[in-house]
This record gives sequence, structure tokens and C-alpha cells, in this order.
Amino acid sequence: MDDVIKIRGKRKLKGEVTVSSCKNSVVAILPSVVLASEIVKLYDVPDIKDVQILIKLLEKLNIKVSADDDELTIDPTGIRNVDLLDEDVMKLRASYYFMGALLGRFKHVKMYSPGGCNLGPRPIDLHLKGFEALGAKIRQDGNIIEIDAEELTGDDIYLDFASVGATINIMLAACFARGRTTIENAAKEPEIIDLSSMLNKMGAQIRGAGTSEITINGISRLKGCIHDIIPDRIEAGTYIIAAAACGEDVTVRNVIPQHIEALTSKLEEMGVKLEQGSDYVRVFEAGKLKAVDIITQPFPGFATDLQQPLTALMTRAEGDSHVEETIYVDRFRHCNELNLMGANIEAGSGKSVIHGPCELHGTDISATDLRCGASLVIAGLMAEGETIIHNAYHIYRGYESIVEKLRAIGADIE
Ligand code: EPU
Repeated sequence: MDDVIKIRGKRKLKGEVTVSSCKNSVVAILPSVVLASEIVKLYDVPDIKDVQILIKLLEKLNIKVSADDDELTIDPTGIRNVDLLDEDVMKLRASYYFMGALLGRFKHVKMYSPGGCNLGPRPIDLHLKGFEALGAKIRQDGNIIEIDAEELTGDDIYLDFASVGATINIMLAACFARGRTTIENAAKEPEIIDLSSMLNKMGAQIRGAGTSEITINGISRLKGCIHDIIPDRIEAGTYIIAAAACGEDVTVRNVIPQHIEALTSKLEEMGVKLEQGSDYVRVFEAGKLKAVDIITQPFPGFATDLQQPLTALMTRAEGDSHVEETIYVDRFRHCNELNLMGANIEAGSGKSVIHGPCELHGTDISATDLRCGASLVIAGLMAEGETIIHNAYHIYRGYESIVEKLRAIGADIE
């Protein structure tokens, strides 16, 4: 079935929008419950497709999950390590966290390779190298990965690239490894700090999350815990950009402004007026915008996940904006769609140039991936006439109630 979002653009956005809990935290936190021997309670888990799929996968492992208002109770006491040879595994990237978690807990995992947004090649060699360094043996047969270890033993692991996924997967596998594991050139994203603080509440001994060197002292058991997930910095950034594009006066709440400094300082450079409080960002109506250049980088650099949404706003800026994408060199599929709406963007490997300003007009376009979808929603809000975004299911993978949230601040969207 083709999921469609329709937007009639040029409405002024005004009011307040509250950001949900962080997708890229919760998609690591849910598989990590495999390591627990007691009940884990999570608050304000976002109702997004990726979460629904991960819950189905937890249930396959005989982990019981129940929801009551804003509380998700996860009971892993009856866990069984079954092979995750299920097509759900291939519907998202984060299913790869079951590798680290099941390897850590059972010393054995067999599952399909993960899927996720098509952003060009997304290898997992660094994850696998990390598991091998801990003593695991890996077999790959087509799309099936099987990982075994007689015992996991801590080691010093240097990551050639500060990969978010590899850092988290090694942390998960190392919790029960004998001795001490050090991850050097670890990723520093806030989601890694969130997961490590939850695992530490459960009794893990992880130090240094948020820096480039993380150490994990192995222990033998993790208890349960209660955890509040951090706000989603990419969702926050998306609404802030939407407000800069079409807002009269919009306050985005449940934000940790330090997590999105690279974005807010770029917006200010473009000429957007912002007010930042301890947990909100208020966006005032923007006049003419200046072209700016961005280079995507690991945190705290400019987030690749906000590159596509910001590109929509850049079409409004006066002059040429340059984007250099260093994380996923092929993350430019949104540009074709924006061009169908009247944008003037040249995109090649790792780079795009947005010639502005352009007046966008509504048309039929397609969300090719999650953040492409977010970019097209922003473009649809800016455009004259009706925009029809096909394959909107990509957007629901990561944005809770996006249609309702935008409608509440004045968007004409269904
Ligand atoms: N890489 C390798 N080998 C590996 C792992 C990564 O070469 O073993 C490369 C990748 O190909 C890529 C770069 O390293 O060029 C970054 O990959 P990373 O591992 O950091 O990303 P990820 O864990 O696959 C997570 C988020 C992405 C986000 C990136 C970067 C999740 C589930 N996904 O992906 O989120 O873009 O970090 O911040 O946490 C999104 O939310 O739209 C999204 C794609």
C-alpha cells in the first residue's frame, strides 16, 4: 500500500511542538534489554515503526513487552535465544544491536543482516572486527550472519572510523566479557551516553561514554532499571528547520540545545532568529536568508541526519549553499525530489550545491528514505499548492505523530 502525506503549503506555523524521545537511543536501548536479568521500565518510548519492529523481535526472543500510558515494561526473565531469521530484521538498521546483545548474553547469535535506509554502502565490518577482538568467530552465508564465542575476553579495540553502531555493539558485547575492553576512537553521539547511563544503572561498568575512549569492565549479570530516554535531537532539528522555513513564532520543546549547536549556529548564520532556553528553542519569523556551507561530521559536528532537512531550507536562501556529506556520500536522493518541486540543486558523490533562492511548488514526490522524507515535508510546507509525498512509511519509521504535531501548529497536512 502506498502511504501518502498531502500538504497544502504556505501556511504560517505558530505555537508549540514537543519533541519525542530519541529514536536512535531507543533502538539501541530495546535490544540491550537482552542483557538484563530483571524487568526494565522505559518512559515515553516513541510510537514509531522502528520501535514496533524491535518490540516484535524482542517478543520472538520470548521477552514480554507491555505498554501502559507512557510506560513500557520489558520482562526478559523468560528469554530464549532463537535465531532471528525473520524479515523484520531486514526492515531496519538497528536490528544489528541484537548481535552485540545476544553475543554478550549467550555467546551465540544467528540472524539476518540488518536493513535500514538506503544511503549507499553501509558496511558493518567494524562491528564484526570488534566482536572478533573479543574472541568471537564469525560466519557469513549470504544474508545470514552467525557469531559464536566460547568466551568473550576484553581487548583494546581501535575503530578506524568513529562509528555509532560499532561503538554501541562493542559496548553491548563487552558488558559480560572477561576483563577490560577499551574502545578507542569511539563515537561520541549523545545516544551512546544515554545507552551507557542506562546500562550503568543496571550494574554495568562503562566509563567514558561521550568521549573518544570508552572502557568497559566486564561483569557477570545486569539487573533491571527504570530509564527516561533523552529527547530526539534530529526530530528537534527537523521542527526547528520547519519553523525557520515557515514559522511565525514556534517554540520547540523538550530539546537539549547543546545537542544541536551545530544546527542552531548554522541557522543563525543564515539569518534565522532563535531564542534558546534550558529545554526549548523558540524560532521567530525569518526574513531573507543567506546561503551557508555545511560539512557533515560525527557528533558534535553537523549531523548527517539533518543535512537533508536543512537542504530544503537552503532552497530559500540567497546565493549558493554547499553541502559536503562525509558520512554517507550517496545521501542525496532528496535532491532529485526537491528539483521536481522547482529547486535548483546539483548533487554528486559527497557534495551538493543548492542554488537559491527558489520558489518551490507542490507536486507528486517520493520519500526515498527517512530523512529525505523529513526534507520533503519541510519543502511541502514551503511550497505553493499541494505536495503529495509517496512512500511516507519511511517518515513514520522515525517521526512520532508528525502529521498531528505539524497540524497543531497550523500546517495543512494530512
Ligand atoms: N561504517 C563502516 N563500517 C562499519 C560501520 C560504519 O565503514 O562497520 C561507516 C558507514 O558506512 C558510514 C559511517 O561509517 O559511512 C557512519 O556509520 P555509523 O556506524 O556511525 O552509522 P550507523 O550506526 O549505521 C547511526 C544512525 C544513523 C546516523 C548515523 C551517523 C542508528 C540506528 N542509525 O547509523 O541514523 O545517520 O549513526 O550519525 O542509530 C537516521 O536516523 O536517519 C540514521 C540514518
